[in-house]
Amino acid sequence: MQHIISVLQENRIFPPSPEFVRGANVSGMDAYRTLCAEAERDFEGYWARLAREFLSWHKPFTKTLDESNAPFFRWFHDGELNASYNCLDRHLPALADKVAIIFESDDGTVTRTTYRELHREVCRFANALKSIGVKTGDRVIVYMPMSVQAVVAMQACARIGATHSVVFGGFSAKSLQERIIDAGACAVITADGQFRGGREIPLKPVVDEALAMGGCEAISKVLVYQRTGSAVAMAANRDVWWEDAVAGQAETCDPVWVNAEHPLFILYTSGSTGKPKGIQHSTGGYLLWTAVTMKWVFDNRPEDVFWCTADVGWVTGHSYVCYGPLAVGGTEVIFEGVPTYPDAGRFWKICQDHRVTVFYTAPTAIRSLIKAGGDLPGKYDLSSLRVLGTVGEPINPEAWIWYNEAVGGGRCPIVDTWWQTETGGHMITPLPGATPTKPGSATLPLPGIIADIVDEAGEPVGRGKGGILVIKRPWPSMLRTIWGDPERYRKTYFPEEFKGKYYLAGDGASMDEEGYFRIVGRIDDVLNVSGHRLGTMEIESALVANTKLVAEAAVVGRPDDLTGEAIVAFVVTKGPRPTGEEALKMARELREWVAKEIGPIARPKDIRFGDNLPKTRSGKIMRRLLRAIAKGEEITQDVSTLENPAILEQLKGSV
Ligand code: WTA
Repeated sequence: MQHIISVLQENRIFPPSPEFVRGANVSGMDAYRTLCAEAERDFEGYWARLAREFLSWHKPFTKTLDESNAPFFRWFHDGELNASYNCLDRHLPALADKVAIIFESDDGTVTRTTYRELHREVCRFANALKSIGVKTGDRVIVYMPMSVQAVVAMQACARIGATHSVVFGGFSAKSLQERIIDAGACAVITADGQFRGGREIPLKPVVDEALAMGGCEAISKVLVYQRTGSAVAMAANRDVWWEDAVAGQAETCDPVWVNAEHPLFILYTSGSTGKPKGIQHSTGGYLLWTAVTMKWVFDNRPEDVFWCTADVGWVTGHSYVCYGPLAVGGTEVIFEGVPTYPDAGRFWKICQDHRVTVFYTAPTAIRSLIKAGGDLPGKYDLSSLRVLGTVGEPINPEAWIWYNEAVGGGRCPIVDTWWQTETGGHMITPLPGATPTKPGSATLPLPGIIADIVDEAGEPVGRGKGGILVIKRPWPSMLRTIWGDPERYRKTYFPEEFKGKYYLAGDGASMDEEGYFRIVGRIDDVLNVSGHRLGTMEIESALVANTKLVAEAAVVGRPDDLTGEAIVAFVVTKGPRPTGEEALKMARELREWVAKEIGPIARPKDIRFGDNLPKTRSGKIMRRLLRAIAKGEEITQDVSTLENPAILEQLKGSV
C-alpha cells in the first residue's frame, strides 16, 4: 500500500466565481449536497427521478434497480426507449435548425449539420443498414475517422437496435480482426482513409487485411465512406460505397424500441491479460448518465458550443461526442485532425473560430501544447470559453495551472473528470459551479456515486490515506458484463477479496482531510500512455509472437513528462544478445512489429536486451525490479536469489 502515495503537491484552492455559481445548473455546494442527500435517502427514487427527467421513454419503467443477480445489475429493465430517438427525434421540430455538429476537417474546411439534417442522415443510413441485412441485436464494427459520418454510423446502429463496436482508427489489422471475431460482427463500417496532420492514413486497406486473416467469415458487408478519394479495392458482393448504400433510402426510419438493458455498444479496452475486454454497455442507464453529466459537469446550456477532442474510438468519444452532447440537444465541434497541425495553435484557433464555450481534452494534449507553444493561447481570442475539462490520466498541477491561466484566463472552472470505459460516464469530478478545486485532484464523487478508498481487506482507509479505489453501489451507466465472458467480468470487477460487493476500479487513490480524491494511477498491469489504456500483457504477447527474434519479453511502464507513462520492453532474443548497431536495428524492428501487431500507440519507447530476465526461484518475472530499472532507480531490493545478477547491468542500458 505504501507505494500508493500522493506525489502531486499544490495547496491552493480555486473556488468558482460567484457569477458562475449563480448561473450554474448545479449552483453551489449546498445544491451538490442536497443531491447527494437525495441519493442517500432514497437511492432508487433518486435515479428514477433523473431517468424520467432526462430521457424520453417509449414504455415507462416500473422497476429502477434489479440486484437479484448481482453483480449483473439491471436498471430500468422493464422500460423501453431508443438512444437515437433520444438524441435526435425528441429535439424536433423545436431544434430542427439548430446546429448539432460543427465539423472542421484536417485542412480547415468547416461544415455545419443541423438536427434536421443529422436526423435525416441517420435515418437514411439506418435504412441502408437494414437493406444490407443488419438486424436488431447484430453487432457492427465501426472503423472510421473523426467525422460526422462516424456519429451517423453509431446513431444509425442505435436506431435499429444493432450493437456497435467502434475500433479506434489507429489499431492494426490484427487488433481489428480480433475484435471482429470476439464481437461476432456481421458488418464493418469504414472509410477509404483519413486525414491527420496533413497526412493521409488508410483505413479500408486495413479492413481488407483484417478480413483476409481469417475467422471473419460472418462479415457479409463492408460499407465504405469516401473521405480521401484514394483508390481502394472493393470486393464484389461484399464492399459497398456509403453513397450507394444510402442512395434512394427513405429519409425517415422508425426507431426500434429496445429494452433499457439492450446492449447499445461494446467497446474493447485493455486489462491484465493479453486479451482485450469487450466492455458491454446498456441503452437506458448509459444514455441517462451521459445526459446528466453533460448538464451537471459541463453545465450545458442551450447556447453552448461544446468541444470534446477525444476520438470516437475511445469511451470519451462515445459518451461526450456521439451521445451526451446530442442527448441534451447541444451544439458540438468535431475535429478531424491533430492539435499540432498546421501548428500548435490549432486547438486555440478552433476555440476562437467557433466560439467554443466548453472545452474537454486530455492532460497529454495540454502538456504537449505547453511544450510546443506555451504562449500560443494568448494569440487567440479565447473569451468564449467558460468551462475547461480534462480526462484520461492524472493532470499534474503545473499543467493544471497553465490550463487555468493561459487557456482559461483564470476565469473558467476546470473539471478534472475521473472515469473509465467501464463506468460509462464521469464518476469523480468537480461541478464547475459548485466544487472548490484543488489542482491534481478529481475532487468529489458525483451525487449517487458511492466511491471510497479501501485497503486490501476492503476496509475504508479513511481520510488522509492511500489505497484502492472502489465504488460501493451500482450506478446506471456501469458496464453490464464483458462480452462473451461473464466470469471474467465478475472476477475482474467484483473480486472475492471484497466479497464480490465492491466494484474494483483498478486505480490507486488517496483521500485528503476534506474527502477529496487524488487518483494516483493503475494498480494492475495496465499502462496509461497519453491517456490510452494498454495492457502490459498485450504488448508482451505481441513481442513474443515474433518467434524469429524474441524468446521472452516483459513490459513495464515508467513515468514520462509528456505521455504520462512510457512503455519499456525488456527482451531476451533467440540469438545472442545484440549490442551496438545491431541492438539499435533490432529495437527498431521490434517497435515496428508491435505497431503492426497492435497499433502505433503500443510502440515501446525503450527496448532493452538481456541474456535473461530477473526471476524469482519459482520462475516469476520480478516486475517490481524491472519497474525500478526502467525508472533508473537504485536497486534496493534483495537480488541475491537472482540466478544471474549481472543481467541487471545489461537491462539498465537502453538502446
Ligand atoms: C485513468 C477514460 C486520473 C485511470 C475515460 C482510469 C484518470 C483510466 C482520469 C481509464 C483522471 C481517467 N485522473 N486518472 N481524471 N481519468 N483516468 O478506460 O487510470 O480509457 O482507470 O477511460 O484512465 O481509462 P479509459
